[in-house]
Amino acid sequence: MTHFPICARRRSILAAMALLAAGLPAAGRAADATRGADLFDNYCGECHTTRAGGGSRSAPNLFGLMGRRTGTVEGFAYSDANRAAGWVWSPETLDTYLAAPKTAMPGTVMKFQGVKDPAERADIIAFLATLHG
Ligand code: HEC
Repeated sequence: MTHFPICARRRSILAAMALLAAGLPAAGRAADATRGADLFDNYCGECHTTRAGGGSRSAPNLFGLMGRRTGTVEGFAYSDANRAAGWVWSPETLDTYLAAPKTAMPGTVMKFQGVKDPAERADIIAFLATLHG
């Protein structure tokens, strides 16, 4: 009888929810590795290198970071705090660390205040996840 079966209505509600989620800054929004690369250049690029086989500058090279233990880039003179942290770098550990490095890892010598915006952190982490062989 009805011209609008229930599934069509549900579809339009889902479409409206998807539009809403797209407008939200963090939750429900896909991380953007391309934007993350630009953010990385702005925030991290003066200290960190990311090329495969590239050396470290004033900061450890971040190629292959995901899944690596803290403080294990060969030849880089880490602080005791970074070397001894014993974490494995993952989206979760990076999110905590990048929000407030000195709080998450007391004693780190990384002179960086952190990235406050969760959406920016998610984009930077998505970019870092692309740095593998
Ligand atoms: C002013 C220079 C500087 C800036 C800016 C900076 N870092 Fe660092 N970062 C360092 C230094 C130095 C270390 C080593 C810290 C230590 O040994 O305590 C480090 C360590 C790290 C580590 C740990 C690496 C490992 O092998 O355990 C990660 C991950 C990291 N930085 C990511 C970032 C990201 C992502 C940004 C930008 C959002 C950033 N850093 C901005 C200097 C910097």
